Amino acid sequence: MADVKHGSEMPHRTDPRDPKFMSAEAAYDLSNLSNKVLLFTGPTSGLGSGCMEQLTLTDFKPAKVILVGRSASKLADTSKMLESAGILTSTYIADVEKPKAVIQCCKQIVADEPVIHIAALNAGAWLTDKTRVMQEDGYERHYCTNFLQMCLFIDYLAPTLSASATPSSRSRIAVMGSFTSFGMAKGNLAFEHLQKGQDGPYYLMQEGGYPYAQTKLAQHVYCKQVAPSLAAMNVDINVACPGSVPSNTPGWLNIKRKVPNCMWGCVWSMVGARYLNEGAATIMHLCGAASMEGKSGKYADFGYQHRYHRLTIPVDLEFYPSNKGKVAPTTANPALRDKLYAETADAMSALKAKYA
Ligand SMILES: NC(=O)c1ccc[n+]([C@@H]2O[C@H](COP(=O)([O-])OP(=O)(O)OC[C@H]3O[C@@H](n4cnc5c(N)ncnc54)[C@H](OP(=O)(O)O)[C@@H]3O)[C@@H](O)[C@H]2O)c1
Repeated sequence: MADVKHGSEMPHRTDPRDPKFMSAEAAYDLSNLSNKVLLFTGPTSGLGSGCMEQLTLTDFKPAKVILVGRSASKLADTSKMLESAGILTSTYIADVEKPKAVIQCCKQIVADEPVIHIAALNAGAWLTDKTRVMQEDGYERHYCTNFLQMCLFIDYLAPTLSASATPSSRSRIAVMGSFTSFGMAKGNLAFEHLQKGQDGPYYLMQEGGYPYAQTKLAQHVYCKQVAPSLAAMNVDINVACPGSVPSNTPGWLNIKRKVPNCMWGCVWSMVGARYLNEGAATIMHLCGAASMEGKSGKYADFGYQHRYHRLTIPVDLEFYPSNKGKVAPTTANPALRDKLYAETADAMSALKAKYA
């Protein structure tokens, strides 16, 4: 592939005298992956496929990758690619829009996989429904696809991750969040957007953009809230922003459909777009960088308005380095974090009882 770049080959701009930034060597370090067991959701296209490509290229290969996706044939292709690079794999199928499938998948993983050192929760989608569409349990689709499934994976996998931590290496959860949580949602969680039922609001900012951004913000808020209790189990949780990466998500496919080919280059540069393997850098940093050992509740944002990476040292989750360090009001508010946590715990309990 012509655009394969990894490590310090990626375009980056930074100031070595400024303590906010790290060196390229530290930013693209993947040494923590060596011989680990990595679980990865959504590895079959888009940013996930960029991450899988990085795994085949790095010298610090994991021993095994547990692949979670919705398509058996795409999982088989990804597995083949990793195995030909000498990495063991196992595969599990779940459509993450369906809590029933997620719960069954998590239970199977917990039964089959005694060791998981790192869980990279990347699966998600910018859906483009023009009205509020409910999935089979009566939730708005973005809520399940981006947020609830992440919470279920954290809940089910935490004990295995905890048991897999060692005195020299804590376990990690790396979540694929998004700059849209500030760019579109302004860091203010509109709880009524997440509520169950047809009557909830569906404010649109581009097709599906605002509901998408709300569920990505919910990820950030929830991760900030659970970080201390997970840390007590020797599991650290951090959130990544990949930047703007034309992928197969419906939101991007919609943009690609609307923009004539001759204009694509302009759009690419206006939004600071990156290739898939470049966008993969932040979540790979959270999984693989030695400097992330013992760090939790952080946000890795290497910038999104330009194609190059600003190698900002991960910051506390409520801050947005690409937005002049502005603070997300909900992420910073303990009472609102509690509210989201309590409402999510109720939703998960009801679904676990329903699908026991
Ligand atoms: N692209 C961007 O600019 C951008 C920016 C910020 C954040 N993100 C986040 O990055 C993550 C990856 O998205 P992407 O842009 O790479 O999109 P993508 O190309 O559509 O890839 C998404 C991955 O998640 C899987 N997935 C989607 N819906 C699923 C479902 N209902 N059940 C099971 N798996 C599902 C996809 O599986 P299939 O291969 O079967 O489709 C694919 O492997 C998402 O969490 C997204 O919110 C993306």
